[in-house]
Amino acid sequence: EDAAQLARFEARVADEERIEPNDFMPAAYRRTLTRQISQHAHSEIIGMQPEGNWITRAPSLRRKAALLAKVQDECGHGLYLYAAAETLGTSREELVEQLLSGKAKYSSIFNYPTLTWADMGAIGWLVDGAAIMNQIPLCRCSYGPYARAMIRVCKEESFHQRQGYEIMLTLARGTAEQKEMAQDALNRWWWPSLMMFGPPDAASSHSDSSMRWKIKRFSNDELRQKFVDATVPQAHFIGLTLPDPDLTFDEAAGHWRYGTIDWEEFKQVIAGNGPCNRDRMATRRKAHEDGAWVREAARAFAEKRAAAKTA
Ligand code: ACO
Repeated sequence: EDAAQLARFEARVADEERIEPNDFMPAAYRRTLTRQISQHAHSEIIGMQPEGNWITRAPSLRRKAALLAKVQDECGHGLYLYAAAETLGTSREELVEQLLSGKAKYSSIFNYPTLTWADMGAIGWLVDGAAIMNQIPLCRCSYGPYARAMIRVCKEESFHQRQGYEIMLTLARGTAEQKEMAQDALNRWWWPSLMMFGPPDAASSHSDSSMRWKIKRFSNDELRQKFVDATVPQAHFIGLTLPDPDLTFDEAAGHWRYGTIDWEEFKQVIAGNGPCNRDRMATRRKAHEDGAWVREAARAFAEKRAAAKTA
């Protein structure tokens, strides 16, 4: 990497130009994008499990159809994201191997169990709500293929968020037991959703460079605050209580101030010790092994086609 190339790259980023796969980019930029995009892809794929758990038990045909569509969307998001990551030069096989071997991370949030139907509401409302908050700015990411993938992903996430909120609204307006179920799901998903935004800014190792390179447009804490500010009134609207005794509205700043996040829990979950980490990975590995014949058949078919073309 020579100094002139680097300076030109920095200038293009500063000018809001998109960096494309064949353009020069510093090795560290390529590395951090490959890490972030592939982790994002893994999160979408692992993220199919907590909700997949409820497809067979959805309370009506309409709910089942929406949930099925949502889980399929997540699979699609994973596939676009692997494709975007591959443009940086690492193959999908290698990226998947990093997930299966435990070398690559995926979002902490998907290591929590889905105990009741209300969890489908809480995940759509909170988890997809947090995902949108984080992903809308990624539509302006300096790396073209990632930014473009995010546009469609965000549109679909927005549908997911609404279907979740509508489930919560329906339960909150239902019987006392249904309302209690919704409250219990909110109690369990609230804090893990705040952790999705990553460690506090002071502890975020990649933030400085990612902000400078315009991969990230807002810091972890900024996005977390935006999410809290958007979500608290939504909880109040449906008559649910946030499980945070320290939550107060700061009139002067116009922000909801929240209590202390349990970062020890976050550390444990990303270290593999969350309530469902082992189960999620075992399920993923089994699905991968069960799909081996499909990959083999696709490879054999591609080889045959290539041979037919050259013949
Ligand atoms: N779960 C698991 N790991 C996390 C989480 C989380 N919620 N937040 C941060 N980390 C990891 C980072 O990956 C990094 O580890 P690494 O160096 O081994 O890769 C470490 O903690 C330090 O964090 P940061 O320096 O803050 O990392 P980064 O700058 O990448 O910011 C963030 C983290 C905000 C999650 C960023 O990567 C991002 O915006 N990713 C794209 C969105 C995404 O992946 N969403 C997935 C969930 S949404 C969904 O799938 C529906």
